[in-house]
Amino acid sequence: MNLLGKVIWITGASSGIGEAIAYELAKENCKLILSARRVEELNRVRKNINLSDEDVLILPIDLEQHQNANDWTKQVMAKFNRIDVLINNGGISQKSFALETDTAVERKIMDINYFGNVALSKAVAPIMLQQKSGKIAVTTSIIGKFSLPDLTTYSASKHALYGFYDGFRMELRKHNVHVLIVSPGFINTNVAINAIKGDGNLANENSPAMEKGMKTNVFSRKFVKALKSNRNHKYIGKKELLTIPFKLILPNIFYNLMYNMRKNNL
Ligand SMILES: NC(=O)c1ccc[n+]([C@@H]2O[C@H](COP(=O)([O-])OP(=O)(O)OC[C@H]3O[C@@H](n4cnc5c(N)ncnc54)[C@H](OP(=O)(O)O)[C@@H]3O)[C@@H](O)[C@H]2O)c1
Repeated sequence: MNLLGKVIWITGASSGIGEAIAYELAKENCKLILSARRVEELNRVRKNINLSDEDVLILPIDLEQHQNANDWTKQVMAKFNRIDVLINNGGISQKSFALETDTAVERKIMDINYFGNVALSKAVAPIMLQQKSGKIAVTTSIIGKFSLPDLTTYSASKHALYGFYDGFRMELRKHNVHVLIVSPGFINTNVAINAIKGDGNLANENSPAMEKGMKTNVFSRKFVKALKSNRNHKYIGKKELLTIPFKLILPNIFYNLMYNMRKNNL
């Protein structure tokens, strides 16, 4: 896919992975819609982007309020009159054991990471069908392929994205609308700091895995390369990606090893 001049909507554009993708796409001279909740952070990102006001829309959204997905989409259409790519990247992580997690918190994570994501795709896909072209990219996680303590609902939300988009891809294919699933490993962002605890409060604590993770500018270059390609799926990360074949080939040994690595904290 040639990205020059394409209208690309990025959620989670106010920090981390989404922010870095915005910078990478600006180099390709795309037209960008930047979405997340914190408008001041979106404006900060916008200032770092060398595109004219004609080519950028700041659109604050709260994915938890996904009943508004059609209204958000109308605002994008009012400015650009088409949507070539939707990058469904906004999301929130968790730091709490399942038995210590309120149901309201589980719902919040699922609302943001799964229902918000899917609602936006269902609002945008009909426009792409009319255009007879488009691409929906989704940021899941390697934690969407296995699970770990402290991350059960987050993991469930990322597994659910695989379940939805692997089928949705086939539903859209004959209309020339494509789906790319990207699974990051450990990327150096504030995702762990911004994670929520079982009572809904912010975790506010970084994780060594994230601190040592891939830099966002390296990640975003690989992400945009995948976006331009015809791939259905791409893992992006460092040696943590070895967990994927390990779990597939030796699942019992894999989960015993993970348990032994984490048991002092359980
Ligand atoms: N970093 C990693 O190692 C890693 C690994 C696997 C997957 N991921 C996934 O990558 C995506 C981006 O995360 P990140 O690492 O860049 O972390 P981050 O810096 O915390 O970014 C998360 C982004 O999602 C937005 N967001 C959170 N809740 C939202 C809501 N209710 N409505 C709209 N936007 C919301 C945040 O913006 P506001 O706070 O302004 O709303 C922010 O822009 C997430 O889906 C995450 O699960 C990250």
